Amino acid sequence: MDLGLKEKVALVTGASKGIGFATSLQLAKEGAKLAMVARNEESLAVAAEEIFQETGVRVLQITGDMSLEENCKQVVLKTVDHFGRLDILVNNAGTHAGHPFEKVDNAMWKYDLDLKLFGAIHCSRNAVPFMRKNGGGAIVNVTAAIAKTPPASSLPTTVSRAAGMALTKAMSKDLGHDNIRVNTVCIGLIKSDQIEKYWQKTAPHQSFEQYVHDPKHQIPLGRIGEAEEAAKVITFLVSDSASYITGTSLNIDGGMAGTL
Ligand SMILES: NC(=O)c1ccc[n+]([C@@H]2O[C@H](COP(=O)([O-])OP(=O)(O)OC[C@H]3O[C@@H](n4cnc5c(N)ncnc54)[C@H](OP(=O)(O)O)[C@@H]3O)[C@@H](O)[C@H]2O)c1
Repeated sequence: MDLGLKEKVALVTGASKGIGFATSLQLAKEGAKLAMVARNEESLAVAAEEIFQETGVRVLQITGDMSLEENCKQVVLKTVDHFGRLDILVNNAGTHAGHPFEKVDNAMWKYDLDLKLFGAIHCSRNAVPFMRKNGGGAIVNVTAAIAKTPPASSLPTTVSRAAGMALTKAMSKDLGHDNIRVNTVCIGLIKSDQIEKYWQKTAPHQSFEQYVHDPKHQIPLGRIGEAEEAAKVITFLVSDSASYITGTSLNIDGGMAGTL
């Protein structure tokens, strides 16, 4: 199936690793032009080279911290300056942050909201005028399935993610008439740096493969997912194949969430 992504210009934040990297690779395979953002220049360069080796696509590498408003503005402007347009935005930059309520101080609350909620707001606010100019666009906000049913010790991330889901729905209502679609994917457990660090911290007695298949995760499909499995869904959502889908949240979680 042709996803209609050839020559489209996409900006992916948190793109050097995990889901952001896999999404960048998938978009490059589909022929999109690509800007990739992360804070660490070296790992971004390694990721960009891997994409070039696999697809022949030279991406625009932009270092930036998506918790900072000015950096969000700059990554959008640099993308448009380089490619002349912007059609797709994947707000993916994020980190694992789950603690009990009384362990979360204001600095932690603020950082999490700055990165996960305001990062998406700032990037989108700067991207929308360019999308409108092109006659439309697509935004995917990467959030988390646990935002829907927050467990204990899941702060501040579940709150930031629930806000990201509300942001998605409200933006989709505001921007639909400009043919700008806004959706969210709610991630369960996907193999990534975050997950490997969590495995090392909480289950060092297990091999990574044992951890991935451990029944304690209560994943009906029996395993933690691959980044590529999330990337394919995100790529579909930003593509013309999803042209009538907006304001939707899609769980990518092997059935783990207790809600639709
Ligand atoms: N993996 C899961 O099971 C899971 C579950 C729920 C939600 N999520 C969400 O899904 C998204 C992707 O997760 P992942 O597991 O693929 O993460 P990952 O493997 O840890 O990769 C995170 C990426 O984001 C970048 N990044 C982190 N902080 C950033 C910042 N302040 N500004 C710009 N870039 C930043 C990192 O590069 P630098 O460090 O160089 O900046 C890296 O490229 C995140 O938003 C995460 O919270 C993941």
